Amino acid sequence: MGKVAIVTGGTRGIGAAVSKALKAEGYTVAANYAGNDEAAEAFKAETGIAVFKWDVSSYESCEAGIRSVEAELGPVEVLVNNAGITRDVMFHKMTPEQWGAVINTNLTGLFNMTRPVWEGMRARKFGRIVNISSINGQKGQAGQVNYSAAKAGDVGFTKALAQEGARVGITVNAICPGYIATEMVRAIDEKVLNERILPLIPVGRLGEPDEIARCVVFLASDAAGYITGSTLTVNGGQYFH
Ligand SMILES: NC(=O)c1ccc[n+]([C@@H]2O[C@H](COP(=O)([O-])OP(=O)(O)OC[C@H]3O[C@@H](n4cnc5c(N)ncnc54)[C@H](OP(=O)(O)O)[C@@H]3O)[C@@H](O)[C@H]2O)c1
Repeated sequence: MGKVAIVTGGTRGIGAAVSKALKAEGYTVAANYAGNDEAAEAFKAETGIAVFKWDVSSYESCEAGIRSVEAELGPVEVLVNNAGITRDVMFHKMTPEQWGAVINTNLTGLFNMTRPVWEGMRARKFGRIVNISSINGQKGQAGQVNYSAAKAGDVGFTKALAQEGARVGITVNAICPGYIATEMVRAIDEKVLNERILPLIPVGRLGEPDEIARCVVFLASDAAGYITGSTLTVNGGQYFH
């Protein structure tokens, strides 16, 4: 069996592409998801990848979920913090619930998932953490104050934790995708997408989930052992950070 990798939100969108790409590289993958059982079961049937349901915004659920993955598959050596949600609304209409849901999933989820695997990685002197942030955490985006704050927080989390992991063989990196063709982006109004977003992307198209997955595979590999605390920008030239 290959190294064990957990991909949060690993059954749909970018996460599904990451799960499949890691499996193709020989990893034993556990794909986590939140509640869409139908999509998770279809993904499992298509790929043979084990799926595990828990909510990354709950610390207790993450601890229990990781325990069950480790009991079934072995110690976690690669963690891809990919699960994320949007609750887009202009700030003057944003509710505490919309703020809290996005922060708890997209930022606190990184603490909840990483803390329970960290001590084992330190003890084994090997680990790979890849956090999926966003272009909108780098540049900010109107209508996404909650999301931009959480995703910028993911980058700070990455840089600080990388310093702690460096001497014990653990790398921690972030990827900031631009607009990638998944359900999250298809939820954007088509007129807004075609008239206001696509013209801003120099390569003239949305990114593909596989284009992010390939970056994750590289950052998880032994070959990337000297890369830590970095932010990999993958956005078709839309924004240079
Ligand atoms: N798509 C883009 O253009 C884009 C750009 C920049 C950054 N990103 C980031 O990339 C990541 C993936 O985005 P995506 O577009 O692939 O999203 P997506 O298609 O909406 O899929 C989201 C996945 O995350 C899971 N998830 C959501 N909340 C969760 C929770 N609390 N606990 C566990 N799993 C949870 C979902 O599970 P269920 O299937 O059970 O709902 C699903 O598997 C996110 O962090 C997103 O912010 C995306």
